[in-house]
Amino acid sequence: MPRWARWIGYVVGTVVLLVAAGAGYVYAASNAKAEKQYDVAARPIAVVSDSATIARGKHFATAITKCVDCHSDDLGGKIMIDDPALGLAIAPNITMGGRIAAYSDAEIARVIRHGVKRDGRSAIIMPSEDYQFVSDEDVGAIIAYLRSAPPVTRELGNTMLRPVGRTLVVTNMLPLYAAEKANHSYVPPTRVVPDTSVAYGEYLSNAGGCTGCHGPGLSGGPIPGMPPDSPPAANITPTGLGKYSDAEIETMLRQGTRPDGSKVKDIMPWRYTALMTDLEMRATLKYLRQVAPREFGLR
Ligand code: HEC
Ligand code: HEC
Repeated sequence: MPRWARWIGYVVGTVVLLVAAGAGYVYAASNAKAEKQYDVAARPIAVVSDSATIARGKHFATAITKCVDCHSDDLGGKIMIDDPALGLAIAPNITMGGRIAAYSDAEIARVIRHGVKRDGRSAIIMPSEDYQFVSDEDVGAIIAYLRSAPPVTRELGNTMLRPVGRTLVVTNMLPLYAAEKANHSYVPPTRVVPDTSVAYGEYLSNAGGCTGCHGPGLSGGPIPGMPPDSPPAANITPTGLGKYSDAEIETMLRQGTRPDGSKVKDIMPWRYTALMTDLEMRATLKYLRQVAPREFGLR
């Protein structure tokens, strides 16, 4: 064999080894993240299961926390992403015919607010950093609703990351794990009384993910964890919404239509904000009107 051919052999061999070592590293490091145990206590929670509380829980899980957007209207779960490069993301069945049968009430409250599953590992994708703000009473009502919903037996399998998804997770380019994002030392309120106050509007906007997607300052921009081609969140501070009347903002939140007739993109969950009560709508608008004006994209 000529010398140059041997050299090419060495170079190709080295590249193959490096790629294999890199892939091995990504595989091991992404597994370590998925398997990581989170030491967060499952605090006991009071769950009252009368019909008024169940109805309240159903409303809150639909119009405010939008659990049904991912877990589907019957709570029986759905496939959220099935991408040959990124992976398979499944929002599981959370009826008594599915995952929550094995969960205690305290464990359900923990996965909602801290993103820590029954086995101590982190859930992916769940916006627990928004749900950490939900009061004990409202989490209790959501649990009462989950426990009372007709059991569904659908089993969709398990979430699985594929090579590109694993690489994005290991390089911290994809904030996937809910337990990494939630603040585990925040102590949520026991009860928040529904009224038309700015404080209640702020509570609903935190619990409802307005701040999660539009940013803590509500001025919009690219949403963390979303693919780069996904539309940025709009500026919903007075700088962005000042030109609209309350009735016009309400139409955007209830019908997904702007005054000029254009449609708000479906990534904005207007089909669920549409279901807010009048009181919740008024409190939310009052809150949005008084936040500090900010230029677009500062989050
Ligand atoms: C943006 C999508 C999304 C939303 C909204 C969402 N979830 Fe989830 N949830 C998921 C995914 C995905 C998983 C699975 C995580 C995993 O397997 O790591 C999950 C896991 C769970 C689990 C644990 C199930 C198990 O396998 O152990 C429970 C319970 C749960 N969610 C309840 C809720 C409730 C209640 C709400 C509303 C307060 C909610 N989720 C909102 C996506 C979502
Ligand atoms: C899952 C992410 C997400 C959540 C949660 C969310 N939004 Fe949005 N919202 C968006 C995106 C993205 C847009 C931009 C849509 C477009 O470009 O058409 C948007 C657009 C809007 C608009 C239209 C603004 C305009 O000028 O066109 C309003 C109003 C709005 N959101 C208010 C809210 C409120 C209030 C909440 C909480 C109750 C909320 N959003 C929750 C992602 C979200």
